[in-house]
Amino acid sequence: MRLLGISGSLRRDSFNTRLLRAAARLLPPGAALELWDRLREVPAYSEDDDHEPAPEPVRALRDAIASADAVLIATPEYNASVPGQLKNALDWASRPFPSNALRNKPVAVVGASTSVFGAVWAQAELRKVLRASGARVLDRGFLLGPAAAAFRLDGRLTDPEVTQELADIVDELRLETMPVRQVA
Ligand code: FNR
Repeated sequence: MRLLGISGSLRRDSFNTRLLRAAARLLPPGAALELWDRLREVPAYSEDDDHEPAPEPVRALRDAIASADAVLIATPEYNASVPGQLKNALDWASRPFPSNALRNKPVAVVGASTSVFGAVWAQAELRKVLRASGARVLDRGFLLGPAAAAFRLDGRLTDPEVTQELADIVDELRLETMPVRQVA
């Protein structure tokens, strides 16, 4: 399984980016997570600029999503919603609408915040946005907060139960990428 990890944070020491790195350690053998690190380069969306060829960072984002088996997005929460830079990139990814890279793509949403709520509203909004774009979004989220105490120095999560929860999400995503078996 080739998993694309997208962190919605541009912050150097982002908890959400750390969360994706922690998820990468939980992958089964044969699976790999590629971290998308070009969110900052995606220009502000305008329909005037939305024609072929798309801006290079947008093409790279669309290609990365299209070639991944599944996508894992870790979102911060800004003012009870999705950070603008992440929503902006997903708006680009959602076009052209009928054949967009997110369509039918298995996607899981997780999130970390410095509050006890663990980015719950941002995750709910993000699932809504992704479903509107045609992605196959897992119902289950993963709330990490307060995030400052959640990581060990080596990047692993401190709590074994929380670690298992994250592993379960990654596994559910893996199952979503498996071909459906026909019943005779
Ligand atoms: C926040 N933060 C925040 N946290 C939260 O739980 N609910 C919220 O609504 C907000 N709102 C918010 C707005 C803005 C503009 C900022 C900068 C921050 C705090 C947020 O959880 C914290 O900064 C995280 O560390 C952001 O995630 P990263 O960058 O660590 O991945």
